[in-house]
Amino acid sequence: MNKISIKHLNKLKKNNIGICSATSYDASFAKFLEDSGVDIILIGDSLGEVVQGNKDTHSVTMENMIYHTMNVARGSKKCFLVADMPKDSYITKGQALRNANKLIGKNMADMVKLEISKEDIKTVEYLIKNDIPVCAHLGIKPQKLSSKKKYKKIGKTIKENNTLINESRLIEKMGCELLILECVHHETANKITSCLSIPVIGIGSGNKCDGQIRVLYDLLGISFNGVPKFFKEHIKSPITNTLKDYVLKTKAMKKCK
Ligand code: KIV
Repeated sequence: MNKISIKHLNKLKKNNIGICSATSYDASFAKFLEDSGVDIILIGDSLGEVVQGNKDTHSVTMENMIYHTMNVARGSKKCFLVADMPKDSYITKGQALRNANKLIGKNMADMVKLEISKEDIKTVEYLIKNDIPVCAHLGIKPQKLSSKKKYKKIGKTIKENNTLINESRLIEKMGCELLILECVHHETANKITSCLSIPVIGIGSGNKCDGQIRVLYDLLGISFNGVPKFFKEHIKSPITNTLKDYVLKTKAMKKCK
């Protein structure tokens, strides 16, 4: 069983085979994802919401990311691992490189992900120049939003469409090897997918990207704050039945007197 590489992901894009990705924050779920055939595991800063129970991702620290990346790397030896750089961990070039190096390497992640805005361009160039593999996150950037109420599809207007296409071309030119598009209008996402040679992975961005990514707890229907609006695969979690059954059986057990 070979470790999935960026070369393999590029081949999937070229051969028009969907790239499947989901988040994980621990070893047990990482193993489940790997055994199910998932290609990429993202150790996402969504852990701030679904694991820590916060209203957004903003309070996630580098220490949190290192801890969860180590756990996931223990559970999956085969999947391609991408670790999020949390908010405020890449303000300066030097800080970004120091922090990226803590997440990348043997028994850690294969790539780091950054929510890239104009002010981050020089930092991303610096990381790539220093051999850090980078996944760009464009579209909705949760680290940059003050409230979830500000979540909306991006790319509906011609101006937004053009900006997103130009940003995507730029991040590919800079050397980013993977792109995640969050909540991008499907037509814009389709154009970006066809004009870029790196794999484009979508969430809430239609179904014609090179692959899809989901927050695992949304897929399982167990997210602490509920699932996002675009989420169509919503299921009622089987965990509730298992736990209710356990409680009922335990309550009915005869006590030893
Ligand atoms: O943190 C995360 O889980 C993410 C996905 C929503 C792409 O960035």
